[in-house]
Amino acid sequence: MPTPLPPDWTDRLALDRAHVWHPFTQMKVHEADPPVPVVGGEGCDLLLADGTRVLDGISSWWTCLHGHCHPRLMGALERQSGQLDHVMFAGFTHEPAVELVIRLRRRLPANLTRAFFSDNGSTAVEVALKMAFQAQLQRGEPGRTRFGALRHGYHGDTLGAVGVGELENYLTGLFRPLLLACERVEVPEDPRRELEGDATGWPERLEAARAALRAFFAEHGERLAAFIAEPLLQAAGGMRMWPPELLQELRTQCDAHGVYLIADEVMTGFGRTGTFLACEQAGVAPDLLCLSKGLTGGTLPLSMTWATEALYGLFWGEPESGRAFLHGHSYTANPLACAVACASLALFDDEPVLAQAAELSAAMADTFRILAAHPAVRQPRVLGTVGACRLVDPATGQAHPAEERFGWTLHRRALAHGLLVRPMGDCLYLLPPLSTPPDRLREAGETLLALLD
Ligand SMILES: Cc1ncc(COP(=O)(O)O)c(C=O)c1O
Repeated sequence: MPTPLPPDWTDRLALDRAHVWHPFTQMKVHEADPPVPVVGGEGCDLLLADGTRVLDGISSWWTCLHGHCHPRLMGALERQSGQLDHVMFAGFTHEPAVELVIRLRRRLPANLTRAFFSDNGSTAVEVALKMAFQAQLQRGEPGRTRFGALRHGYHGDTLGAVGVGELENYLTGLFRPLLLACERVEVPEDPRRELEGDATGWPERLEAARAALRAFFAEHGERLAAFIAEPLLQAAGGMRMWPPELLQELRTQCDAHGVYLIADEVMTGFGRTGTFLACEQAGVAPDLLCLSKGLTGGTLPLSMTWATEALYGLFWGEPESGRAFLHGHSYTANPLACAVACASLALFDDEPVLAQAAELSAAMADTFRILAAHPAVRQPRVLGTVGACRLVDPATGQAHPAEERFGWTLHRRALAHGLLVRPMGDCLYLLPPLSTPPDRLREAGETLLALLD
């Protein structure tokens, strides 16, 4: 049974309320409903200060892969912390960074040969956008001043990344006057991912979507520096699962129109969708690849933007040529983060991580099949270890109005029942660490079913 918070937490929460500004939060909410103190992490669970153990059903914002405080990752951190904490990466290098590049390269499409480090998903995207634009300039295409992107996309919260994300939502719309020039096109959700999907007419719809992509590139292709997409799964856009055939079409169109293809696998990378990268399921190799979140197994901030040799070659020259990529961050390639990332990749080599992900995927499908019986649940779907559905008010068949804060209430109630979920709008999803035992996932499904009732 949860106990009241220990007294020192009462004081800390008062200090938090006095001075801390939390992300994605209307802070007034915390006046009545303070942030939840977390004191530990163990396997797929988080330990709350009141003694509750909760399944981390969303991998702490989609980062945690092998479970919290995994001994191999923590051991690597401890070893590296006795060796080298940090050093600037311009003009210097170190073993964890080189080892990480070598380990990762083996798992990526062969055309990606050059790795640029930064420290979060948004900056990995900023780097890709800037690289693409500068590469186009340096190959004599100064007119390519715009980007292409998918509607419902999300690529981070820095201004460049916001500019290529969906604008018609509460997160980003107000920044419109400050953003990059971006043309957007929509891809349909893939009914084959739905557990009760009706794929009638799908071949025709797929063909129409292909034609729409071709028309988009015919209209905008000559002015685009790059096209960015989250392969197969638009995560923050509502866990929209879209067809690999259209990623293939994007590759074809980018090639035909001299546009770089940026795969933002910040969320989909590292086994989340069942394969190491989601791109693999379409047999597509991008020109630029953004990785973060699971890169360190979910322990430390780190990101990478991988580029092809051809793109890299456009930056090559004498110092006075002005062709260098003049971008970097204080913590670029932090050695502690790189060492942990190496340990995380070593787990992929030494343990059946992707086989576990396949088992989790099967359990995810079972869980959402059970949830699907509830009248509030619509469009249950699964891609790899990610399961999602829409929640409606059974009385109206419509999504709950935003002011009801149904998702937030479900999130808070589920916590009290040992489960961390955080619906996005009307999208309820589960995306636990890859190491989550399938039985724990099924329990989570039962908890959700009881709460929905
Ligand atoms: C696909 C995608 N790209 C980029 C980002 C931004 O990553 P970060 O929050 O580390 O800046 C996210 C974050 O959720 C994401 O899902």
